[in-house]
Amino acid sequence: MNSKIAFITGATSGFGRASARRFAQAGWALVLSGRREKRLQALAQELRALVPVHTAILDVRDAEAVKAVVEALPQGFRAITCLVNNAGLALAPEPAQEVDLNDWHTMIDTNIKGLVNVTHALLPTLIESGEGASIVNIGSIAGQWPYRGSHVYGASKAFVKQFSYNLRCDLAGTGVRVTDIAPGMAETEFTLVRTKGDQGASDALYQGTVPLSAEDIAEQIFYVATLPAHININRLEVMPTRQSWAGFAIERDQ
Ligand SMILES: NC(=O)c1ccc[n+]([C@@H]2O[C@H](COP(=O)([O-])OP(=O)(O)OC[C@H]3O[C@@H](n4cnc5c(N)ncnc54)[C@H](OP(=O)(O)O)[C@@H]3O)[C@@H](O)[C@H]2O)c1
Repeated sequence: MNSKIAFITGATSGFGRASARRFAQAGWALVLSGRREKRLQALAQELRALVPVHTAILDVRDAEAVKAVVEALPQGFRAITCLVNNAGLALAPEPAQEVDLNDWHTMIDTNIKGLVNVTHALLPTLIESGEGASIVNIGSIAGQWPYRGSHVYGASKAFVKQFSYNLRCDLAGTGVRVTDIAPGMAETEFTLVRTKGDQGASDALYQGTVPLSAEDIAEQIFYVATLPAHININRLEVMPTRQSWAGFAIERDQ
């Protein structure tokens, strides 16, 4: 049995799926979770050719279900050494004043409460793993830089950043590392989800430029989790070279 085990949330798509493949290439055993069972099973089947894989159909918003999944981890998958808190989403690209309140609640419940649920359930295990263990939280550039239509999404990722920093303070002396990885524009199913299935809008966003890929971010996740145990990357902000900041918006008299 491998000595290193990664627990990845949101492994059915995008960064989560790509990082599952990256860790598997390096021989890590995997606990893969997400809501879409067929995708999870297909990925597990693919990766079992390389490493032991345990799957858990899990909605991270359900704190009791998260706790139950962690408590029921089979022998050989319990000593988690890396938690990749990746499950998350953006909804409602429209301005705040036009948003359906349910969309704000879904982002808060997933990006904040979901991440907190999984972290809380796995902290004792990670502390037991000790030196070299890591929590890799997937934040966003939206947690640092404001833009129109970011409202609760950006605020939820600012939570991820500050929670990561604060966790480091409490985990001092345990050997457990914490990193906030903050990606910029990356082509995954993210925009499809954000626009509630508008493939045209998703294609248009990534057209004519070079966004990050899921594999680019998976490489960063793997990098921070496999650095020597005495190194903690606090925050890693990664953008495509062809993405940068826009200027301040100025309202003018006509
Ligand atoms: N792509 C970008 O441009 C970008 C930039 C910065 C940050 N991010 C962040 O990166 C993370 C991954 O996004 P992605 O780009 O890889 O998007 P994606 O392709 O849509 O993947 C999102 C993953 O999150 C899972 N998920 C969503 N809600 C969940 C829930 N309630 N319970 C469990 N799993 C849930 C989905 O799985 P199921 O639907 O099967 O549950 C899916 O596997 C998110 O936290 C996102 O905010 C993305």
